[in-house]
Amino acid sequence: MEPKISIVNLCKRYENDAKEKGLFFSKNINPDRIFDGKEGYVLKNINLNIQEGEFHVFLGASGCGKTTLLNIIAGLLPKTSGEVKMDGKEIKGMSPERGLVFQNADAVLFPWLTVKDNVAYALKPKKLSKQEKEKRTAEAIALVGLTGHEKKYPEELSGGMRQRLQIARSFASDPEVLIMDEPFGALDAQTRMVLQDELVQIWKKTKKTILFVTHDLSEAVLLGQKISILSAAPDACIASYETVPFSYPRNSEDQDFVQYTAQLHRKLNAAILAHQHKPEPEPVSERVAG
Ligand SMILES: Nc1ncnc2c1ncn2[C@@H]1O[C@H](COP(=O)(O)OP(=O)(O)O)[C@@H](O)[C@H]1O
Ligand SMILES: [Mg+2]
Repeated sequence: MEPKISIVNLCKRYENDAKEKGLFFSKNINPDRIFDGKEGYVLKNINLNIQEGEFHVFLGASGCGKTTLLNIIAGLLPKTSGEVKMDGKEIKGMSPERGLVFQNADAVLFPWLTVKDNVAYALKPKKLSKQEKEKRTAEAIALVGLTGHEKKYPEELSGGMRQRLQIARSFASDPEVLIMDEPFGALDAQTRMVLQDELVQIWKKTKKTILFVTHDLSEAVLLGQKISILSAAPDACIASYETVPFSYPRNSEDQDFVQYTAQLHRKLNAAILAHQHKPEPEPVSERVAG
């Protein structure tokens, strides 16, 4: 089966001209750590296949290059070398086939539009009848449990509801792949748990391919079918690739879950340590991880 997303020997280095072009997609930029070729790559030889309908989690410490990787897959950011394909075609620029959800809903929602209009906005470029647009908007709002709140403005919503709204907007345009960059990172623990459960249900219902970034090990094990663990920058690569052995819904208090997570934690630390002592990750020419 052809993978939905395939990544072969992907390397990324932020050239200094990224600065001049204003390519600042990430908040945690330290200008002193720009990888201009002397210090190394941010990402070095990432190799991965993601199948259609897969819930794939990227796990890694802050600053290791998770956002960089997702932005390249989204088509928001150019790669330095390697291949990144969707359905066998090279990803060049953004596409409605890939929906994006960011950590900070406030940065992407329109404060002057209601819940309904924020979601409907995603359908603007689509050639659909007015009725069809209304129907899709209502469906997306229902999918995330915001029915009844259509007339509210983002500022009238809680953080969790704003994140639901962002998810609804991404789903409204019916993308094939949903790319989520730490979408629950800014939420309180309780809301986060609720949204994690909801996301699994939405994924099961819609059968979308989901690429989800987190730095939280427990969240990764709760959500992912597959987990790619990134080593640390510079030269971050996939240090470990895991198939989570649990069915859904998962309970983070189960003994098996706790044990598996602890085991993964040790493995993650070991992989990162090993990576730090191995300056040149090998390119993969024949075999692709996954
Ligand atoms: N536009 C940019 N120019 C230069 N360096 C950047 C830029 N964006 C990110 N970086 C650097 O690349 C590394 C990875 O960043 P990022 O992908 O945001 O990591 P993560 O999402 O895992 O926290 C960091 O060291 C960051 O400082
Ligand atoms: Mg990030």
